[in-house]
This record gives sequence, structure tokens and C-alpha cells, in this order.
Amino acid sequence: MSLRGFRPSDVPFVAGIVAEALQEHYDPSLYLSLSVDWPDGFLVAADPHDVPVAFLLGVSQVDGEARILMFAVERHHRTEGIGALLMSTFLDRCRDRRFRRVTLEVRVSNATAIRFYTRYRFGVVDLLRAYYSDGENGYQMARGLP
Ligand SMILES: CC(C)(COP(=O)(O)OP(=O)(O)OC[C@H]1O[C@@H](n2cnc3c(N)ncnc32)[C@H](O)[C@@H]1OP(=O)(O)O)[C@@H](O)C(=O)NCCC(=O)NCCS
Repeated sequence: MSLRGFRPSDVPFVAGIVAEALQEHYDPSLYLSLSVDWPDGFLVAADPHDVPVAFLLGVSQVDGEARILMFAVERHHRTEGIGALLMSTFLDRCRDRRFRRVTLEVRVSNATAIRFYTRYRFGVVDLLRAYYSDGENGYQMARGLP
């Protein structure tokens, strides 16, 4: 598995991972427009054929802060450590940019992701009522960067 930056040709693969893993639909043009502001914040893990199997899309909309907008590993490649690789690389890039804080949102029912984020020292800072398109609540989680 190799880690690299996002490319426009990744869009259909990233959209496929999102549809399966996150139960949300985004306009494909969103990925392209979000990749422009902070290219190093959009990480893709690709298989030996260079096909994306996981990605982490981070943005910086608040000064000194990064926000993880989307993060998913294709089902058949979970628990192989790819999520950990993406997250630790992303946090390094945040430190390179001297960000002081990282935030994210997660479904309250997503125990696997919440456990994963907790291991990376994220804590719940807010409850976001009916945050998701199907009405489910979300947690906002955040961590500081030393
Ligand atoms: C959350 C998510 C990104 C984690 O990615 P991942 O690649 O599975 O994460 P890792 O493999 O690095 O670690 C996950 C777990 O597998 C375990 N693991 C890692 N390598 C392993 C191995 N070789 N064998 C067995 N278990 C292993 C880790 O210890 C960890 O266990 P724990 O959470 O029970 O303590 C992934 O589950 C996912 O895509 N979920 C669906 C989308 C989603 O919910 N995204 C977050 C939305 S906010």
C-alpha cells in the first residue's frame, strides 16, 4: 500500500468508497475543489495497481485549525493499519503547517470510528443534533497539536 496525494482521476474511486462507507453522497466536483486549497491535506492510500482503497480529506477553514472532512477505508482493507497510517501522516502534515487544533465530526452510532479517534487523542467537544442527512446526531471531536 502506498500513500500519495489526491489526483483528479481518483474521483470515481473516492466517490465509491464514500458511498459504501459513509452513507452520504457528495457532488464529485466537491473533491476537486477541496483539493485545491490544501493539496497536502488530501491523502490517498493506493493498492499496487495505484487504485485508491482509502483516503483522508482534510481542510483548513479556520485559522490555525484543520478539519477532517472525510476519512474512510474500503471495507475489505479495514483493520490492516491503513487508517492509522493515514491519520498519523495527516497529523504530521498538520504539525508542518503549525496547526494548533484538529476537529472532525462523526455519527454517534459509529463506535469503531469513535474508538479509533479516541486512540488518537480526540475527545468529544459537542453534540451536533440531526447533523447527518438521515437525521442522525453527530459528535464533534477535537484534539490539540503539541
Ligand atoms: C475508522 C476507519 C477509517 C479505521 O480504518 P482502519 O484502516 O480499519 O484502521 P486501522 O486498521 O488502522 O485500525 C482499526 C482497528 O484494527 C486493528 N488492527 C490494525 N491492524 C490490524 C491487524 N493486522 N489485524 C487485526 N487488527 C488490526 C487496530 O488495532 C484497530 O482496532 P480497534 O479499533 O478495535 O482498537 C475504518 O474503520 C472505516 O473506514 N470505517 C468506515 C468509515 C468511517 O466510519 N469513517 C469515519 C467517519 S467520521
